[in-house]
Amino acid sequence: MAGRYKQFLRLLESWPLDSSKKGRDLGHHIRQKVVEAFPSGETSKVNVEECEKVYNSLKRLADNYYGDKFKRRYTSSATGLTREECTESKTSVLHVPVMASHVLEYLRPQPGQIFIDMTFGAGGLSKFILDESQNTRIIALDRDPLANSLSNELSEQYPGRVIPLLGKFSELPELLKSHNISRDSIDGIVFDLGCSSMQLDRAERGFSISKDGPLDMRMDGDRFPHQPTAADVLAHIDEHDLFKLLRIYGEEKNAKKISRAVIETRYTFRKLTRTHELKDLVASACDNQMRLDKLQRISHSATKTFQALRIFVNNELNELNYGMILAHRYLKVGGKVITLTFHSLEDRIVKRHLVGNVIENAINPLPLKYSNHSLLYDKSFVDNIIDSKWKMINKHVLMPDADEIEANPRSRSAKFRAAIKCLNIE
Ligand SMILES: C[S@@+](CC[C@H](N)C(=O)[O-])C[C@H]1O[C@@H](n2cnc3c(N)ncnc32)[C@H](O)[C@@H]1O
Repeated sequence: MAGRYKQFLRLLESWPLDSSKKGRDLGHHIRQKVVEAFPSGETSKVNVEECEKVYNSLKRLADNYYGDKFKRRYTSSATGLTREECTESKTSVLHVPVMASHVLEYLRPQPGQIFIDMTFGAGGLSKFILDESQNTRIIALDRDPLANSLSNELSEQYPGRVIPLLGKFSELPELLKSHNISRDSIDGIVFDLGCSSMQLDRAERGFSISKDGPLDMRMDGDRFPHQPTAADVLAHIDEHDLFKLLRIYGEEKNAKKISRAVIETRYTFRKLTRTHELKDLVASACDNQMRLDKLQRISHSATKTFQALRIFVNNELNELNYGMILAHRYLKVGGKVITLTFHSLEDRIVKRHLVGNVIENAINPLPLKYSNHSLLYDKSFVDNIIDSKWKMINKHVLMPDADEIEANPRSRSAKFRAAIKCLNIE
């Protein structure tokens, strides 16, 4: 073993001790291992195969084999990559669908059935449905032109099985008409609401707090050139309306302070045009308060402001209300609707449709428990409220389990509901 022992000693020569790295010097650690492996020096008996493996591995480290192979581009970060490059590699999957196994379990796609994915995004859920059963077809709707280009790609991968549609829920009737798809003809409809990771990850879309970009937030991109952006809203809204917008759509407890700060900024110096300008302004208006999200992680004080503006710019709640009406209109009796909502405003709208708390096509703003029971209503009015057009499949909302939340933190606030269309009235 003398030769092998000398080889190790030569290797250690190229690996000087570094006394500045107290307790974490690799050279020191390796010397200790060599002493343990060769307790009687060159006369020690060792496992030759194991020795060979360890020697080769140490030699590669000593020769900077890995350093040459994977060049560090930036010495300032632990990985040698920029922050953006690190997040890019994590998000090479464009969007991870939430609670996908529940969607399939409740939807149970059967051969020949046709579904509408109302929020196609990157198509994750649509792909699951297409792969679950042969000959299923998907109508892939999204208002975002980027998502629409992906649904066009998917239609090439699954010939004859995907109908890509660019539009909002409110544009659906016209779009379906152009494909001769009539009412009461669809087997299942899925809503996976909110923003896609593709929208959040692109700074230029203006949805993200963490990435600086123009304050845009239009899910439709440039489809409607006159649609106001978030920057336009902040430039023109008055203080009281901004306060209401933040309070109602963002459930923001500091709505008053934030709206004051926005108006003062506007009068004193300039228009807010960048996401980071708004983020910093909100943080300073809220005295840089620390907030925790549902996973007890620190969340930025501007999160709710961003949510409120996004909902307003995209008219999301009216769209959802109409989307639920359309879901009932286009499903067959026995067809299923599945909804994934991400905040209480969305979930409230869905729930009130499913339990029948809807009056003249708008959700009743009052929960049923606050209804005045001493008032007398005529029968048709009462029937209209209590005759639900849906039967809930799961009585209570379902939420993702801890493993899914750990793997995909975006799922943490998801609420899953599923219902069957049971009456064919409007
Ligand atoms: C959470 S993502 C959907 C992700 C998708 N399920 C997946 O697996 O990739 C939500 C998508 O819904 C779209 N969307 C939101 N509101 C919409 C509306 N009113 N009409 C059409 N699409 C809408 C957004 O543009 C976004 O792409």
